[in-house]
Amino acid sequence: MSVKLAKKTGFCFGVKRAVGMAEDALARKKRPIYSLGSIIHNDQVVAGLSRKGLKVIKNINDIKKGVLVISSHGLSPKITTSIRMRGIDIIDTTCPFVLKAQRIAGASNIKGRIVVIVGDKHHPEVRALVDFAGRKAFVVKNRQQAMTLKLGKADKVSVISQTTQSKKNFIDVVKAIALKKPGTLEVFDTICADAESRQAKASELSRQVGVMIVVGGRKSANTKRLLGICAENAGGRAHLIETESEIKSGWFLPGSAIGVTSGASTPDWMVEKVVDRISNIQRAQTKK
Ligand code: F3S
Repeated sequence: MSVKLAKKTGFCFGVKRAVGMAEDALARKKRPIYSLGSIIHNDQVVAGLSRKGLKVIKNINDIKKGVLVISSHGLSPKITTSIRMRGIDIIDTTCPFVLKAQRIAGASNIKGRIVVIVGDKHHPEVRALVDFAGRKAFVVKNRQQAMTLKLGKADKVSVISQTTQSKKNFIDVVKAIALKKPGTLEVFDTICADAESRQAKASELSRQVGVMIVVGGRKSANTKRLLGICAENAGGRAHLIETESEIKSGWFLPGSAIGVTSGASTPDWMVEKVVDRISNIQRAQTKK
């Protein structure tokens, strides 16, 4: 048995930047400092920031004064404006790739276009994109939903993507909408380069190993998507774990390689702990 690490693991550029900005603010002792929900979808990293003083809140009205850190997923422009009007400082860690999708959604809205967003309607990035896209926005998850979408007499439609979607799903949705609105579509592939290359590297490794371990938060959209891609390419033998303590020795078959990949909000130190634990299990199994 051997452990193989995917060529892309650990924090992506946007998460590294967001965590760095929050840590800088905490080090400067700006207080009180809040985030609306988790600034990234990784409970272990958020717990570390909370120990340094970051307060995670669910409702924006819980802030009376201080600083709000906007997460890497971005925030609705209506909420950002209302916070500024209350005199609360903002540290905006929205990932530049997400900002690009927000700009396209806003510009399409100004041009009077209907915006279709390919993504998960409950995800904070998509909720904010809907607000940028205005009243005429739709969210579709997949081709099936796109097929049943009622666009009425709309003659100007733009399609954009949640940044962590898979390219295949995005193309499938675009094709389904094109059948409804031939000639009126503007298509913007706003999938981020990091997510795309992480998925490609994980898929490549999945085909070479007996089982894949995906390390990341269970609430993380890109981690769940990686799990789906790994399961598809590793014959269903893929497991999502948040920490090394969840690994079960029964997952590993003697003589077959184990692949490890991680979501974009998983720190390197967590990936290293997972690799160490798998190596220890392998050593114990070899001795038997
Ligand atoms: Fe940004 Fe892509 Fe990461 S959108 S937060 S670089 S997964």
